[in-house]
Amino acid sequence: MRVTLPFLGSLALLHRVSAQCQEVIPAQYAGTPFTNSLKTNHALSNITFFKIRDPSGQHICTSDASSDFSLLNYISLNSTGKRLQNNEIKRLVIVVSGAQADAWAYHKDMINALQAMKDSSITTDNVAILAPYFPNDNHAGTGFPYNSAGTTPNAKYPSPALVWYGSDWGGGANNQYPPRLKTVSAYDVLDQLIQYYANTAIFPNIKQIVVSGHSMGAQMLHRYAAVGKTRAQLGVTVPVSIYIGNPSSETRFTSDRPLSTGKCSSTFNDWREGLDKYSAYGAAHGGELTYNAELIAQGGDAVLANYRGKTVAHGRGILDRGDYSEGLCAPYTTGKDRHERFFKFLEKWPPLCPDPAADGCHTVDFVSTTHNNKEMFTSPAGWARLFRDNFNGDNSKAYDFGYPRHSEVDDPYPDPAQAGAPLTSTDTNTYAGGKTHRGCFTDVDNAQSVATLTVVGYSGNLNTRTYCANTCTQKGYTIAGLRDSTCYCGNSLGSQTVRVVTSSCYNKCPGDSSLCGTTNRLSILSSVDV
Ligand SMILES: *[C@@H]1O[C@H](CO)[C@@H](O)[C@H](O)[C@H]1NC(C)=O
Ligand SMILES: *[C@@H]1O[C@H](CO)[C@@H](O)[C@H](O)[C@H]1NC(C)=O
Repeated sequence: MRVTLPFLGSLALLHRVSAQCQEVIPAQYAGTPFTNSLKTNHALSNITFFKIRDPSGQHICTSDASSDFSLLNYISLNSTGKRLQNNEIKRLVIVVSGAQADAWAYHKDMINALQAMKDSSITTDNVAILAPYFPNDNHAGTGFPYNSAGTTPNAKYPSPALVWYGSDWGGGANNQYPPRLKTVSAYDVLDQLIQYYANTAIFPNIKQIVVSGHSMGAQMLHRYAAVGKTRAQLGVTVPVSIYIGNPSSETRFTSDRPLSTGKCSSTFNDWREGLDKYSAYGAAHGGELTYNAELIAQGGDAVLANYRGKTVAHGRGILDRGDYSEGLCAPYTTGKDRHERFFKFLEKWPPLCPDPAADGCHTVDFVSTTHNNKEMFTSPAGWARLFRDNFNGDNSKAYDFGYPRHSEVDDPYPDPAQAGAPLTSTDTNTYAGGKTHRGCFTDVDNAQSVATLTVVGYSGNLNTRTYCANTCTQKGYTIAGLRDSTCYCGNSLGSQTVRVVTSSCYNKCPGDSSLCGTTNRLSILSSVDV
């Protein structure tokens, strides 16, 4: 709404001061609609617009610098295809898409997951599912208005649609469009969605808000768990939990790295993988990132404490061996793929749950699936974290899925009850020369330039743990390393070699069913400590 400017006395001053608008009140169904040709993929999925407040508080409303921001999102309808009444909503599940920004697909998958649970008390009639849309330039003209004939940025992108650059939203970057005002971090969007639905004057029966994401959405939420504002800072009393399913990388709170940084020495600790150069993130397109910069300025311990204060559910598809690193080298200093990075993160920062009924409980659930968000959501662990936990506001929580250990020699396992338990290997054989299985180790790859073992003892289809141990022992070596059909020997490991989660060495040996490493990873048998 336009308000009258006070008398300013000077025409020069008048030129410098923009007309000020009243503060925008964020709200669902209240955003300024803009033209798009997006589809809904589920009968209960509806496109709506959420009005977003300019977090810089400028309240500008001149046409060349308007703070009218509109977020397109998908919101679920009730079982009769109508909008849920506010007082019917007991739970909000926000689901953030993968890197393709295909919010319509994730929205469909989350509604399907809820319906597949077949629980008559937890349904589309009392759970609202919301998928925010974080578009980029690829979506110009379909997801938001684009005028190719425009001669200025504002003329090219005339609508109030919030648009980001590439997948920068995954790191919380500011919007790049509308070009006239680039002040909205993707994390501000999450904050405002949470604040709106946590308002019990609007939603008197809301009991829990879950912010969930898979793949790039999960990367975004791991970082949001790290630097996102606390409930107290947001003025929110409704419990908020964060579900993180199969991210390609995690934010780290210190600048040490489990794998060599030699091939990535200048950038490995930059935001999004580390905490350096936070304000520069996405700045070329969205301007300086200032979201919760006060926290970043306090350093890694403060960010870790902030992360530990959130309620976080890690979901891990144990057959997900993929990678999505967008050409960055930083993720490889933390592991070779999603699986390895996840366990290296847990090894450094084991999940804690001091009080399941309070903020700050972190859980880990394993699901026997690949990089498959549908199966993650539609699993007992997914149902528990997304829909069931604290459904009635009584702090109830389903047990953790995934125990006992899914892989031997993994240390530490995220079950506090098992903390300090002796590490054992299911391969308890003693091989030639007194060699025993020591786990899975890195070799030359995107991070490591020094080989782990340089002597090839054998290469061929007879390779097995037994065969390789015999070969290296006969040649006088204390260590045998297996990768597929190759058997390496040595008396010490390379200077950059580190042990990784045992399940990183998942290929069967050509000669039998024992495990023989995989690309860039060696199964190690040794008679000396490694
Ligand atoms: C669905 O929403 C409509 C309109 O808001 C409401 O009248 C109806 O009772 C709801 N149906 C159910 C089953 O909740
Ligand atoms: C679904 O979305 C369309 C377009 O935004 C809107 O016109 C319609 O009213 C919505 N339907 C419901 C039931 O909210």
